[in-house]
Amino acid sequence: MTKKIQVAVLYGGKSTEHEVSVHSAQSVCQALVACGKYDVKHIFIDKQGFWFLQQTCSEATAEDVAVTPVLDKQGTLWVASTGEFMRPDVFFPVLHGLNGEDGTLQGLLECLDVPYVGCGVLASAMGMDKEVSKIAALQKGVDTLPYYKLSRTQAYDKQALQDWAAETGYPVFVKPVRLGSSVGVSKVKSVHQLHEAVDFAFRFDSDVLVEKGLESPREIFCALLGNTENLQVSECGELKSLQSEFFDYQAKYITAGGCETRVPADIALPVREQIRQASAQVFKALRCSGLARADFLVDKNGKAWFSEINTLPGMSDTSLFPQLFAAAGVAYADILDRLIALAVQTWQEKQTLRLEKDHD
Ligand SMILES: Nc1ncnc2c1ncn2[C@@H]1O[C@H](COP(=O)(O)OP(=O)(O)O)[C@@H](O)[C@H]1O
Ligand SMILES: [Mg+2]
Repeated sequence: MTKKIQVAVLYGGKSTEHEVSVHSAQSVCQALVACGKYDVKHIFIDKQGFWFLQQTCSEATAEDVAVTPVLDKQGTLWVASTGEFMRPDVFFPVLHGLNGEDGTLQGLLECLDVPYVGCGVLASAMGMDKEVSKIAALQKGVDTLPYYKLSRTQAYDKQALQDWAAETGYPVFVKPVRLGSSVGVSKVKSVHQLHEAVDFAFRFDSDVLVEKGLESPREIFCALLGNTENLQVSECGELKSLQSEFFDYQAKYITAGGCETRVPADIALPVREQIRQASAQVFKALRCSGLARADFLVDKNGKAWFSEINTLPGMSDTSLFPQLFAAAGVAYADILDRLIALAVQTWQEKQTLRLEKDHD
């Protein structure tokens, strides 16, 4: 019998998207176990950042066993209660937001020198930052909505911000630069709500974007799987928020029937093609690998604006990413197989690099 590949799935995390991550990871773990090819280790990261081995993927339980990632010749995960080491063949982060999707965890996994699923340090860090992603998109000629950037470390000129917003026109959207799931995001309809929305966003991040807002835009998504040389770009999908004014946390995760998905998106074919091409361009510009989901807003005139990229998008079996590939005939289990194979391939390629300079 061939030995099963040991996959350590990481989920939870020190992030405002902790709960969303556990939900995503439950689907990933179930599918990995069900296919019989993998020996799945469930690693829960709590909100303080501590790691635990679990029997099945869930929030914290009394049976959880503390584990520590260590750099050691015998292995990379030290199981505290038994004193054993285990060495997963692949790490599979199913973490969203800070400390998981933003390059920090990827840096740790690089230091441990283990294969891991998804984007590397640079792409994760750049993709997490909405301003850096916009700059990369603009450099490739991909349009993105104008914005005004504020930093908590620099006192900002409130009048200058008000003038910019008045000139741009309301609504504007105020959002933390490095967050997801709509946490800290406000739609601002007049100057009276502007500063309150900025203060609210500053609770979550030290940098905030005030972005030109679109009134009832179409929200179009495109999923990407692979690497620069061999990139599969999904059809475009559309999400409609049915009850909220925009896609807030409530509409995304709380309100039952709060949104409706359409694949392929009901937009003109040339715009769909343009979004697919732009998604691939942004993926490559940010040096993504493995997977990502690119999100666009389409205005009343049918013009598409790049909004953001998610380097670890929602991965529950009902999330957009799997749905977009299902429409292209790629089953959920096949996506996971592909991601694991890519992780190993990327790590193997890294092993061919010299770490010592030549001696004459
Ligand atoms: N400029 C904008 N115009 C209109 N709606 C927007 C704009 N920016 C954000 N939104 C709405 O807010 C939601 C969350 O914003 P987004 O930038 O995607 O942040 P997150 O990373 O939290 O998903 C979007 O899905 C959309 O509904
Ligand atoms: Mg979004």
